[in-house]
Amino acid sequence: MKKSNFLVFSLVVAVALMAFATVSFAGPVVIKFSHVVAENTPKGQMANKFKELVEKRLPGKVEVEVFPNSQLFGDNKVLEAMLLGDVHMAAPSLSKFKKYTKSLQLYDLPFLFKDMDAVSTFQNGPYGQKMLMSLKKKGLVGLGYLHNGLKQLSSSSPLRVPADAQKKKFRIMSSDVLAAQFEAVGAMPLKKPFSEVFTLLQTRAIDGQENTWSNIYSKKFFEVQGYITESNHGLLDYMIVTSSEFWMGLSDDLRTGIKASLDEAIIFGNKVAAQKSVEDRQKIIDSKRSKIIQLTDAERQLWVDKMKPVWKKFEGQIGKDYIDAAIASNK
Ligand code: LMR
Repeated sequence: MKKSNFLVFSLVVAVALMAFATVSFAGPVVIKFSHVVAENTPKGQMANKFKELVEKRLPGKVEVEVFPNSQLFGDNKVLEAMLLGDVHMAAPSLSKFKKYTKSLQLYDLPFLFKDMDAVSTFQNGPYGQKMLMSLKKKGLVGLGYLHNGLKQLSSSSPLRVPADAQKKKFRIMSSDVLAAQFEAVGAMPLKKPFSEVFTLLQTRAIDGQENTWSNIYSKKFFEVQGYITESNHGLLDYMIVTSSEFWMGLSDDLRTGIKASLDEAIIFGNKVAAQKSVEDRQKIIDSKRSKIIQLTDAERQLWVDKMKPVWKKFEGQIGKDYIDAAIASNK
């Protein structure tokens, strides 16, 4: 073989070997999914179901590692970590996107949705779908919504009327709407990560918090709170997000398979949410650790009258058309 031919031949072999090495050592795409709640919650179950479905649909091509209970990242860090590529999927509560978009503040408006069917109607409609894209400029993509449920008020003292909440400290998620909601009844809101809530309640550093039945049950808040007012005053739902860079870096077939698995897992997670809002409530009642306070219509109306003016304050940031669409979904 001539020297020049030999050089070309060597080059071809080297390139072929490199290509082979890339293919054989590239391995599956690993999706790290980080969340803050327990595994026996709607979000915990949805994440585990997603792992099961996607690994079955795309064997050897995609692997999902689920990190529950703020093990990998807590509330305040997960979206920053996602933009850095340290985690690929998460499902923060809609109340935790303040730094990224103002429009999602809609979901925190007190007494906006009458039940979870109204929430689904809104989310599946044009405004809800548009909101999935509201994080685009910040490099994030909303892949879908997941339900948890309506929030209740837990406290170390009974809360029947708004005056009972006066001067009491309540932990809230990092949302200005939620802060305004508690200020409207003369209470003191404190923005704290979910991972700190149990200890804050146990040590009486705070008086109360708001959450769904499944979070109150799975994180044992009911064991350290004497009273839970069944107020159904607000919504706790999630947006499943990923980074645009990660999402657009995937091949079409992986993206399609991952999205189809996620859509299925969301349907499953929403069923879990509906069940848990009944079952976990009952488990708390049965435990007799916490007294459930049911409000009369007149008492509930007092909370509505105090809290609802908060809507006006945020109307400019959210958009009146969005609020009107949400109201219309109650029909
Ligand atoms: C909370 O911080 O109370 C919730 O967002 C936790 C969760 O993710 O359900």
